[in-house]
Amino acid sequence: MPSTSESLLSLVPVVPVVVVDDLAHAVPIARALVAGGLPVIELTLRTPVALDAIRAITAEVPGILVGAGTVVTPAQADQAVEAGARFLVSPGCTPLLLAAMSSTGVPFLPGTATVSDALAVLEAGISEMKFFPAEASGGAAYLKSIASPLPAARFCPTGGITAASAPSYLALPNVGCVGGSWLTPAAALAAGDWDRIRTLAAEAAALR
Ligand code: 3PG
Repeated sequence: MPSTSESLLSLVPVVPVVVVDDLAHAVPIARALVAGGLPVIELTLRTPVALDAIRAITAEVPGILVGAGTVVTPAQADQAVEAGARFLVSPGCTPLLLAAMSSTGVPFLPGTATVSDALAVLEAGISEMKFFPAEASGGAAYLKSIASPLPAARFCPTGGITAASAPSYLALPNVGCVGGSWLTPAAALAAGDWDRIRTLAAEAAALR
């Protein structure tokens, strides 16, 4: 399993962002991602079963690093870590949210979309952050533009990224990895087509 003591952005080229509606899907998805070579999963806290999905994967898929995404309140940061999350990701960042995620003791990626957002995160002593929503916020061209003025900031862009657009982000010096939900298409989930997810994961794992 990847260690969280190293940079979150250096673990895998693509962090699978997963929205689980059916708890029974959680473990098969996680196993398919591991089998494809991506032993990391970000479970978004957008569905009622998300915390249970984190618990199930933690208990049944020991080879994967489980994190929680869409952390938007301080309470959710604590709840996610109590459920077993070993990293946290937020779509945006407020001082309270930053403090709450920091106090959990697990690594986290606060969400940023502007230079001022990134500066606020850097001021807090954090150099790794999410860039969200990446495509709608200017995409790879935007990140390329801020690499020189913000040399200390490193990003995990997510939001609207696809297998086709991921390489343009991964080529940037200030991008460590990208995040995306394209590895778990709705049709594959509906069909229980875990082989499809394994194949998409393998393709993503080879992107760097
Ligand atoms: C998110 O938190 O929604 C991630 O950014 C994933 O975005 P995507 O579904 O556009 O890949």
